[in-house]
Amino acid sequence: MSASEAELVAAARDARLRAIAPFSKFLVGAALRLADGRIVTGCNVENASYGLTVCAERVALLKALSDGYREFTMIAVVADTSDPTPPCGPCRQLLWEYCGDIPVVLANLTDITAHHTVGQLLPYPFDGRLL
Ligand code: THU
Repeated sequence: MSASEAELVAAARDARLRAIAPFSKFLVGAALRLADGRIVTGCNVENASYGLTVCAERVALLKALSDGYREFTMIAVVADTSDPTPPCGPCRQLLWEYCGDIPVVLANLTDITAHHTVGQLLPYPFDGRLL
């Protein structure tokens, strides 16, 4: 694991502690590495109207986009599970749209549990090339 990857995972672990997940109790943190080296984090934010819940990955991505960032090089996702917690389908679609085929590092509180790329997680994507 590179120092840069370790730093990204550490940022996702910190962000996870800010998760608002009173319904599922499933706390998730995400950290996006920007092309300029900075990190933007997100946590899941749940709502009593469950369908309004926003995943950690999407919070991180939308925060970064709304701050004007457009180039991303890696994302880390952390949950307190022994099995990796990969991004859900809608998050994969959004990550593909705005980040392209970047590496996705999955981790828990102590270990890296998997490495993928967005393209591996979304192998037959719909995107602007098809419009
Ligand atoms: N969740 C995420 O934030 N990211 C994922 O990759 C998987 C699921 C959240 C949504 C919800 O708040 C909770 O985890 C349980 O689904």
